[in-house]
Parts: sequence; structure tokens; C-alpha cells
Amino acid sequence: MRILGINCLNHDAAMAVVEGNEILWAAHSERYSKIKNDHYLNWDIVNEAKSYGPWDKVVYYERPLIKKTRQAYAGQWDEVFSQKNIPQNYLKQFGIEIDQYVDHHESHAAAGFFTSPFYDAMVLTVDAIGEWDTTTIWQAQGRTMERCYSIKYPHSLGVLYSAFTQRVGLKPSEEEYILMGMAAYGEPRYVYEIYRDLVDRDGDFKLKKNLHRGLSNWLPKADPMDLAASIQEVMERELEKLLYKTRQHIPTGQSGVSRYGDERNLVYGGGVALNCVANSYLANLGLFDNIWIMPNPGDAGSAIGCIAAAERQHLNWRHPFLGYNIPGEYPVDNLIKELETNRIVGVANGRAEFGPRALGNRSLLADPRGNDIKNLVNRIKQRQEFRPFAPAILEEDLHEYFEVPKCVVNTPYMQFIGICKHGKDFPAIVHHDGTSRVQTVNKTQNPGFYQLLKTWKEKTGCPMLLNTSLNIKGEPMVNDIKDAERFQIKYNVRVC
Ligand SMILES: [Fe+2]
Repeated sequence: MRILGINCLNHDAAMAVVEGNEILWAAHSERYSKIKNDHYLNWDIVNEAKSYGPWDKVVYYERPLIKKTRQAYAGQWDEVFSQKNIPQNYLKQFGIEIDQYVDHHESHAAAGFFTSPFYDAMVLTVDAIGEWDTTTIWQAQGRTMERCYSIKYPHSLGVLYSAFTQRVGLKPSEEEYILMGMAAYGEPRYVYEIYRDLVDRDGDFKLKKNLHRGLSNWLPKADPMDLAASIQEVMERELEKLLYKTRQHIPTGQSGVSRYGDERNLVYGGGVALNCVANSYLANLGLFDNIWIMPNPGDAGSAIGCIAAAERQHLNWRHPFLGYNIPGEYPVDNLIKELETNRIVGVANGRAEFGPRALGNRSLLADPRGNDIKNLVNRIKQRQEFRPFAPAILEEDLHEYFEVPKCVVNTPYMQFIGICKHGKDFPAIVHHDGTSRVQTVNKTQNPGFYQLLKTWKEKTGCPMLLNTSLNIKGEPMVNDIKDAERFQIKYNVRVC
């Protein structure tokens, strides 16, 4: 049985093809259209999906008619009466017929649980909004997932965080990661005011007002960095309450037993699970022994999640390199040569990452040593000066260089932060608060990138590389060889 999963008409359209329990392909629409966070599909991605077809069934990641009832409640009448936002109407132009719809949060939960290494687990999903749900908790075992708790619109942690994203002048539903980075520079001075004006302090998470349309000019004189630190702290406090609730729902007689022993397992998903600072805070609480966050836990990952939700079976998860393929051997020697000569190089090789982070196949890599490397990389990235870059390190070296939460054995998808033990040697990859969003690399998941790091370490003694996404400013990550050539010409940086 070959199944197509679709997420579109949202903030990051994506498609996936699964056959049995094998994920054949999964990709973001933006990588083909070159429009960042593209809401829509295009013929290039659809044709690539069709190259893995024909499919026996098409599954859509949410229920559009139930969503319209929420939009009616919110007074979004243009959305309610629009025919264009009905997925089947939209997909007709591509000759695609939807066979099955699943709940938005069920897609998130299934994307997490059915790609996890766990036989049973508690599942927590937190995002801005699904149809009505904004947070759900599930008991999952084998092929079953039972929902045991939910929070509904307008009470939404994701909407609250997005409202602050907008309040500090960033783009909501896209630039939440920048707000998270700002938090390290501020003091949480406004936690009291957030609870006074916006969030109920006690009981289940509840907003005091609907923040769907933002915060407008709340506390106009507040420093943006302090606002960022304050909302990050509130977010962590509220997520902590949810994690305790998730643990309370572990069914009696079952303790989240893993396939590997008697341990408590947590699967965490939804767009809020992209907040790696909060993820580390949660991991440090020690409420669960093991945590799995799928590398694409937001709505794009639901292209896989909706298929898993429909079929209710574990998928054979190996790695997130599931997108467009640039064939050829991983160019280790050329990359080393370029790093030794120019200290910076691009790599566009193999299958593109399915998820928001470049993990070695569409990466801009640099020697992380010294004080000037950040400026060299920023000449290309031109991003806010305060934002650090991430390091990629051999999995076996993680604990020597970084202090990570106890239950984090490795972090191959940059989902957790660790304290860098040798920050002075690698200033470009250390944030203001001494942490790094570290990526561990092992031989199984990406043998080419692993070999590169190993050779680099042997030649230079340096155990890591700076790893940031390979993209032209304002565009999504490089997808194909033409994009890579455009990058090379524009920035005069070699791409291997
Ligand atoms: Fe979502």
C-alpha cells in the first residue's frame, strides 16, 4: 500500500509518500518554489511525489470543515465562506483526490509516536491551533493512541508565543526561533504582567483574552529582549505544568515501558517542540527517562504524521534525509581542502533534509575556531548579530565538549541546547548565555558528514564544524544543483 500525505494551505506546505512502513520521500514545498514557508504546492513538488506513485490512498493532515467551525467562532467570516481554502477544491488542479482526513493534533501525535523507538509512550503535542485543539495528551501503545486530555482554542500556548513574536516586530508563525534567541539577552521582568493581563496563573492553561490577532502595543515601553525573556519563562513554566499532567496520565499498570526496558517514554510534538531552549528545560526536569521529538514536529511533519495516523503503524525511521536527491558521493576531500584554505564551504549532496534544520546535506560549514569566523559567515547570512551559529560534532565527543540534559544521549536534529565546556575556543557557536544548539553526528544516520567531521578532527584537532543552512538570503534552503550554483556565484563561496 503506497500512501500520499499532504499538508497545505498552511504556513509550511509539504508532501510525503509512505509504502508499508517505509518512508519513501518527504519534502517541503518551499524548497521547490523558492518561496520561504510557502503555503501552497507547486507542480515541481507534485511531480516529484508522482514519481514515487501511483499511490493507493491520499490522506490530508486536518479536517477542514471542523476548522471552519472554529473560524466562525473567531469571526473569520472570509475564511468560513471561502471555497479556496477547501483542500479538495485546491488539489483538483493537480489531479489529487483526498481519500481520508485525520485530526490536526492526531497527525502531530502520530508523526511523533510512530517514528519513535518506543513500543509505548505518553505523547504531548503543543502548537498554535489545529481545528480547535491547541494541546493534546495521548496514551500510545503498539498500534493504538488514545487521547486523554486537550486544551482548545482560544487558549493556546503557541498563539501566546506568536503574539509576542509579533509584539517585538518579528513575523508571527515564522520567526518564533528569533524571539527564543533574543530571550538570552533579556531579563524576565514582565512575568508578573503576563500573568496579570494575559494568562491565568492557576489550573489548566487559560488565556485571559484571545490573542489570535496579536498583542498590539501591550507594555509599549518594555525592552524587546526583556519581553522575549519573560515570555520564554512563562512558556517554560506552562510547559512544565503540562509535562506533569502528561506524567499523571500514564495508565496504571503501564509505565511508559520502552522496547528496551522499564523506562518512561515521552513523545513531544507540534510547532512548540521547535523551541530547543524549552525542550532542554523540560528534559532537565527528569520526569521522563527518554524523549523523542521528530525532527520535523511542526505542521510540515504532519505530511508523514497524517499517514501514520491513518495507518496506525510504526514507520521505519532511519534519518530525516528524505527529500530531493543530488546524486554522488559525499565530497569529503573537497570539503576538507576548502575548509583548510578558505575556512568556509557549502555542501549540497544527497537527499535534502525534511525539517527546518540543515543537518549536513544542504549546509554551509565553517571552521568554528577564532573570533572572526562569525563575521565571515554573517557576510553571507546577514542575520541579526546577536544570533549564534550551531555546531555539529561527532556523537562520541558530545559529552567532552557539551553538557546536555541527562536524558539526552544524542541530539542529531539540533533539538536541545547544551552548555559548551570550551566556549572561549569556539565563540561563534556559543550563545550569550553560554549554550549551543548542538547537532551530534553518527555513522549510521549520515556516513558522509560523519566521515567529514572525523577527517577534520584528525587533520586539525578541532572536534566540530559550524553548521548553518545553505540558503540565499530571503530564500529557503538550497534544494537542487541549480540553487547550489546560484549560491556559489552570488557569494563566491564554493559549494561541493
Ligand atoms: Fe500544528
